[in-house]
Amino acid sequence: MRVVSGIQTTGNLHLGNYLGAIKNWVAMQDQGECLFFLADLHALTGTVSPQELANSTIEMAATLLAAGIDDRSILFNQARVPAHAELCWILNGTARMGWLSRMTQWKDKAGKNREGASVALFDYPVLQAADVLVYKATHVPVGEDQRQHLELARDIATKFNLDFNVDLFPLPDALISKAAPRIMSLRDGSAKMSKSDPSDLSRVNLSDDDDTIAAKFRKAKSDPDVLPDSFDALEGRPEAKNLVTIFAALSDREPQSVVEEFAGKGFGALKPALADLAISVLGPIRDRLVRMHNDRAHVGAELAKGAAKAQTLAAPTLRAAQEAVGLQV
Ligand code: TYM
Repeated sequence: MRVVSGIQTTGNLHLGNYLGAIKNWVAMQDQGECLFFLADLHALTGTVSPQELANSTIEMAATLLAAGIDDRSILFNQARVPAHAELCWILNGTARMGWLSRMTQWKDKAGKNREGASVALFDYPVLQAADVLVYKATHVPVGEDQRQHLELARDIATKFNLDFNVDLFPLPDALISKAAPRIMSLRDGSAKMSKSDPSDLSRVNLSDDDDTIAAKFRKAKSDPDVLPDSFDALEGRPEAKNLVTIFAALSDREPQSVVEEFAGKGFGALKPALADLAISVLGPIRDRLVRMHNDRAHVGAELAKGAAKAQTLAAPTLRAAQEAVGLQV
């Protein structure tokens, strides 16, 4: 079992990233060989200042270390392992324009301004395919929003193997978090919690202090009704469902057991309990992160160490792909 996953280095890490991905990454460290990376090349698909990109790569790496990614895993930033970009170029020969045009993230992010979008934004999923295929990943733990990109990676792998008559790339399986496949915005139950949402109140950042976490849950959109005694009865109440889902995921409980505890009570009861719970889980991560701020050199050294290991693992696959297509390098 080889586990590979990444996170784009723009903005802040938030509760959606934590519950949808990072929490699983930490748990999987005992189950297989794990590689986790900061997708800094992917950040170039949008407009990001050099200073912001450099800072956010170190800040996010520090957050992953603070959240419990440790020596059992290989942690690095994508730009330091050129095999990702090199394999991406080879796979660009395999991926089809039609496949990429159907990616919902491309459609959402490019919006009506396709002519003005960067080529990198369109090619984004091919780089993501290279990220996992270059390590022959078997499992890719991600949130629901990445499912389509993973399916594309499987299509690219299948076509490459077929076109060049090789058995090079195994098909990676997406491991979607059962507890928190899609955490929604605290301000709008129909939009996913996202680092690009202009409202900071829409998300809990892993760097937020306790008072901010409490205030964000207090101000979270909910509804005036009491909680029912069954989770299924929350259908049609997206904000309520989201808060119960967050409660359950943070406490490793079933959503049904959470609604049973609060049945007949309103959000005046659930929200403070949820804020306390979130602070008890996220507070220690943030405290470790704050301590690491004085030691950015340590974080940089960890990334360099990880990149050297990742490079060694990626090199044979890249070489085999080059040979398969006839490149003499
Ligand atoms: P990114 O940086 O948007 O998100 C990182 C991880 O967090 C998950 N996630 C969520 N899960 C539940 N609820 C949410 N609201 C939520 N928001 C984010 C994402 O699904 C993801 O698992 N393209 C990727 C980064 C990437 C990658 C890869 C991932 C680059 N190469 C290779 C896996 C394998 C991205 O932008 O994720």
